[in-house]
Amino acid sequence: MSLKKILVFCLVLMVTVVMTGCGGSQQSSSDSGSASADKKGVKIGVSMPTKSLQRWNQDGANMEKKLKDKGYDVDLQFAENKVEAQVSQIENMITKGCKVIIVGAIDGGSLSSVLDEAKSAGIKVISYDRLIMNTDAVNYYATFDNYGVGKIQGQYIEKQLGLTEGKGPFNLEIATGPLDDNNVVFFFKGAMDVLQPYIDKGQLIVKSGQVTREQCATPNWDEAKAQERMDNVLTTNYTSAKVDAVLCSNDSVSLGVQSALKSAGYNTSEKPMPVVTGQDANLPNVKAILAGEQSMSVFKDTRALADQVVKMVDALMNNQEPEVNDTKSYNNGAKVVPAYLLQPQFVDKTNYKQLLIDSGYYKEADVQK
Ligand code: GAL
Repeated sequence: MSLKKILVFCLVLMVTVVMTGCGGSQQSSSDSGSASADKKGVKIGVSMPTKSLQRWNQDGANMEKKLKDKGYDVDLQFAENKVEAQVSQIENMITKGCKVIIVGAIDGGSLSSVLDEAKSAGIKVISYDRLIMNTDAVNYYATFDNYGVGKIQGQYIEKQLGLTEGKGPFNLEIATGPLDDNNVVFFFKGAMDVLQPYIDKGQLIVKSGQVTREQCATPNWDEAKAQERMDNVLTTNYTSAKVDAVLCSNDSVSLGVQSALKSAGYNTSEKPMPVVTGQDANLPNVKAILAGEQSMSVFKDTRALADQVVKMVDALMNNQEPEVNDTKSYNNGAKVVPAYLLQPQFVDKTNYKQLLIDSGYYKEADVQK
């Protein structure tokens, strides 16, 4: 082969290597999308239902901090339990070019059309804590095991009253959350799967006769509405009899129930407080637990939930499938939404230090009256 042909061959070979190398590096750059995509300027929307409940402030703040620490731009919005406000906030997130929108829905059934817009814009949607219904625009769901929350509450009442040892009959009342929060379906079922058998055999008696999710609902988880309903239940059914336990699905409802009980003379030596449950380990409720006015709450570490959501966002931004651990339980009416469920834990006087203080969730001074 002449020198000229050798030189031409080497030149062609070099060009080929360089081209393949670039393609390879482009390949690797798209692969590097699987490594760590450049997050600068990538916008993430966080739509929370309200500031009026402590936990959502924590959820929003935790996610904002963790996402910003990773380099994302964050648009955090609170809708003050106004559905139309949440819809327009999400519309703005779409307009601003958010790549992922994380939504703690006020009303899980009210966001189908705005989230269909997000889907058409190629935006990924993560349903946060509460399942968004009737749309296939939801890509993932991050929450605590909602059925497990109810089961913990039911089992707490079961244990405190000694139901497994056959004790009773005891009087039970029930105060749950709103009908537009899909979580309530799971909270209620988890608790009633424990308690219903005792109602059926007369160990538990619900004197008000209010035993369905509809009858026991509290619109917007509103404390005042929970108090008003329990006031009526007590004046109508408990002028002589006393209540032994109240199943409350979350802490704001529990505070309302506790106020009604105190107005009816409970929390005194003659009429001690009944077993009263809650959920979220909100500060006023932890204080009530230490004061003996609430029996327990369910601790859902919002820091852990925020961590999980940030992992989901990172995976999506790196063209990877986020980790999930439940692909069966959460059918939103349009699809079974793949979910990551974290585990809730009961918290009461016996373990609040370990769960809440030692973990840094609260300081001891925070929880003292
Ligand atoms: C539920 C949530 C509970 C409770 C309630 C009040 O959907 O899972 O933790 O906070 O909302 O907002």
